[in-house]
Amino acid sequence: MPHVDFESGERSPSLSSRRPAPVRYVPPLQYLLGVLRYVWPIPHWVLPTPRLHRFAAVLLREDVEEVLSRPDIFTVPFAGEMRRLADGSWPGTPFILGMDDVREHDEQLVRLMNVFRLDDVGIVSEIAQRHASLTVDAVKGGELDAIEKLITDVPLDICVEYLGVPIKDRRSFTEALVGLSGHLFGLPPIEQKPDVDAKADIVRQVVDDAIHAARRAGPSESTVMGRLMGVERRDSEVRAFLLGLIVGFVPTTTIAGGHILEMMLRAGGMLRMTRAAALEGDEALLGQCLFEALRYMPINCGPFRLCEKDYVVAANYWRRKRIREGTFVLACTMSAMFDCSRVQQPFVFTPGRPSVDRLQFGLGLHWCVGAFIAQAQLVQTFKPLVIQHGLGRARGSAGHLRRWPKSIFPQHLVVRIPGKSS
Ligand code: HEM
Repeated sequence: MPHVDFESGERSPSLSSRRPAPVRYVPPLQYLLGVLRYVWPIPHWVLPTPRLHRFAAVLLREDVEEVLSRPDIFTVPFAGEMRRLADGSWPGTPFILGMDDVREHDEQLVRLMNVFRLDDVGIVSEIAQRHASLTVDAVKGGELDAIEKLITDVPLDICVEYLGVPIKDRRSFTEALVGLSGHLFGLPPIEQKPDVDAKADIVRQVVDDAIHAARRAGPSESTVMGRLMGVERRDSEVRAFLLGLIVGFVPTTTIAGGHILEMMLRAGGMLRMTRAAALEGDEALLGQCLFEALRYMPINCGPFRLCEKDYVVAANYWRRKRIREGTFVLACTMSAMFDCSRVQQPFVFTPGRPSVDRLQFGLGLHWCVGAFIAQAQLVQTFKPLVIQHGLGRARGSAGHLRRWPKSIFPQHLVVRIPGKSS
């Protein structure tokens, strides 16, 4: 499987040699964000959640960068809860996403990258390609719930075959992951809830069963779990690593894949360019098309941070704002990716944009460690789907994106696959 460098920001040669008509699309929320960027770029408000809490958001690219590059001031609000849920009790075990001390974070990152390697992109591509092709081929001339049977199922296959965590009941495992992810990365403050603890119990049980089986089997190089057996003595460390990876993986790639598919079906021009790249076998361009579609409909508005001490954002500009200690700050990457003071032609679908325009994987200390794996997985998942001639929404409500109850995570979207590829 070829290694494709999607993150370089280099344009694929086949993109520059062809000149497709520009595809323009303005996501509805960007009308509001566009006005706010001019008149109130650092909005702030108070919410009873349930006690009164101060909130602020930074909407400009420059201010988002400032907030996300100061982990000494703006910390992740879910650190404690993430530790607790990893063990089911205090003090818990930390994982990189919940660490704001740069030295501690980087020390754990190095240990993680020792078992969760960049070279594994090829393994993940192979698993995703095999499962996606089988799934799409089986329904040619019919309909496919592309979220449930493809976009969520492929990461679960990767959990089993690459991470080394067998899953018996896929539905309850996915539901538990979606609940955990929404709880940790949704609107702060993050407070302990019995139903979330029950979901964490389900995920921990699956991971613990896998650890016990792996301890009996001994170290092996073929899975992340097998490699961890060789280097990590404490089960709590192994569990924190795998739990962090799985929670960062299955719900996130489901939401990203679901949003990419929705954008492709909304804006036909995006699907046409993506399909052309897939038919040419240009995986670099295919990846660029998919992640450009994700820029229009990212996984969320952006990450939240907690301001640890009074701080002035954008100190040298008219918009400067003193953020008070205890304020929850939304680093609104969704807005920053359309900030025309920094991003060229933000509303023109431009695969292969410079990497500074792309914040889908975050920025700074917590930049997504799974980005390369996610890209490989989504390219191979979408490839057999987008080459289907006449791919479109199924009739009726089934053809529209539906989400898990009370959450932002896609659950179903049925597509029509008329029959022949190309
Ligand atoms: C398209 C899919 C994905 C998207 C859009 C995505 C997005 C993100 C974002 C925005 C962050 C930063 C969060 C913050 O600053 O608070 C992040 C961090 C992270 N992601 Fe992903 N992610 C994806 C897939 C994955 C996968 C497949 C894995 C692992 C297998 C993963 C593991 C992580 C981890 C461990 C972090 C924390 C990194 C650190 O703190 O150094 N993600 N991701």
